[in-house]
This record gives sequence, structure tokens and C-alpha cells, in this order.
Amino acid sequence: MRHETIEKSLNLMMVLIVVAISIGGLVEIVPLMMSSDATEPDEGISVYSPLRLAGRDVYIREGCYNCHSQMIRPFRSETERYGPYTTAGETVYDRPFQFGSKRTGPDLARVGGRYSDDWQRLHLMDPRALVPESNMPAYPWLADNVIDPDLVTAKVKALQMLGDPYTDEQLAGAAAAVEGRTELDALVAYLQGLGTNRKNRR
Ligand code: HEC
Repeated sequence: MRHETIEKSLNLMMVLIVVAISIGGLVEIVPLMMSSDATEPDEGISVYSPLRLAGRDVYIREGCYNCHSQMIRPFRSETERYGPYTTAGETVYDRPFQFGSKRTGPDLARVGGRYSDDWQRLHLMDPRALVPESNMPAYPWLADNVIDPDLVTAKVKALQMLGDPYTDEQLAGAAAAVEGRTELDALVAYLQGLGTNRKNRR
């Protein structure tokens, strides 16, 4: 009988659905927010240098995440191929994180140091020069676009306000650190840093 009353009243039904979903959501979300595993950086994880930070924004702007994940799942097939699985604590300075699940290309969470800087540059300028069967787009304009130092300073400042542990020296030196560098320099620096500052790396 009571069931019928609920099913016949749209508003009551909606309220009860919202309540049911909220409880489910809270049970999943709140423990994670309390857990230091998810909110504290793993050993060795530090904030992005200004150049890498600029490179990360190029990565996001160009939509690299449409084809590349940065999340190695805890399965043998993944860890054998890419390295140790991704933890929440290594992504605390990723705003927003780049986990993803779409892999037209390989996962990039541990790509840092896998190739030389020259390889990365050429690959971004012309992927098929290095991997003939690649369907990755070329990004030749990155070599022409120069990073705006003021913008990077503003970004570091914003992240500092959000609680990322940038020192005042890092903030003061941010503009100089990217002066005259291109978006290609920044993106390569970002890629070469991925997965390299973890303590338990392979
Ligand atoms: C349309 C899908 C697509 C997009 C968009 C894309 N890639 Fe790729 N990427 C691939 C594929 C496929 C491969 C594997 C073949 C190759 O190496 O070119 C690859 C390979 C790579 C590799 C080498 C990884 C390894 O372990 O061998 C890097 C680094 C990389 N991409 C970076 C980027 C960056 C940075 C961007 C954005 C500027 C980007 N990709 C955008 C498809 C894509």
C-alpha cells in the first residue's frame, strides 16, 4: 500500500530518490575525503615547477587526454606494461587530475624519461616521423607559441592560494623560469616529469 502511494506521487518519489542517491554518494565520497591516502601527497611528490605547470596547461588545452589516460590500474597486464599502478596520493597537485579511461594511445602516467627530449619534440612535431603507423595528430604550432610569464606567475599564485606548497621564492622566480620558452619546451618538460618523482618508481 505504502509503495503504491510513493509510486503514484511524482514529487515524493523524486525526493526519496535524491535521498537514496545522496546516502550512497556520501558513503563513497566522505571516507575518501577523510583518508590521508587520498589527500596527502605520496613521499617524493612535489608541486609542478613553473615550466611543467605551463606544459600541463598545454596538455589540457590540446586535449591530449582524449587519447591518453594517466592512470595505471592495479592489474598485472597494466603494471607489466606501464609500471607501478597510480595512487591517489601522487595526483594531489593535479588540478584537475588527468586519470581518463580513453586510450587511443598508451597511458602516459610513467612516460617521463622513457624517451629523450629530442624524441618527444620530434614526436609532437611529426609523430609519423618516428612511429609510421601512428594516428596521433601533429602539434607543430607549439614550437612557435611562446609562454606568457605573467600568466604562469598568476597560476602559481592561484595554486598557492588554494594551498599548494609553493614557496614565495618559487612564486617570485616563476616568470624567469619560463621566460622565452615555447609551449613545446613546456610540454616536453611536463611529459618528462610524469611519474619520475615518486619514491617507489621502477
Ligand atoms: C587521436 C589520438 C591522440 C591524441 C589526440 C594524442 N595522441 Fe599521443 N599518441 C597516440 C597514439 C596512437 C600513440 C602511439 C603511437 C605513437 O607513438 O605515435 C601516441 C603516443 C604518444 C606518446 C608516446 C607514448 C609511449 O609510451 O610510447 C606520447 C608521449 C604522446 N603520445 C603524447 C601526446 C601529447 C602530449 C598529446 C597532446 C599534445 C597527444 N599525445 C595527443 C594518440 C594520440
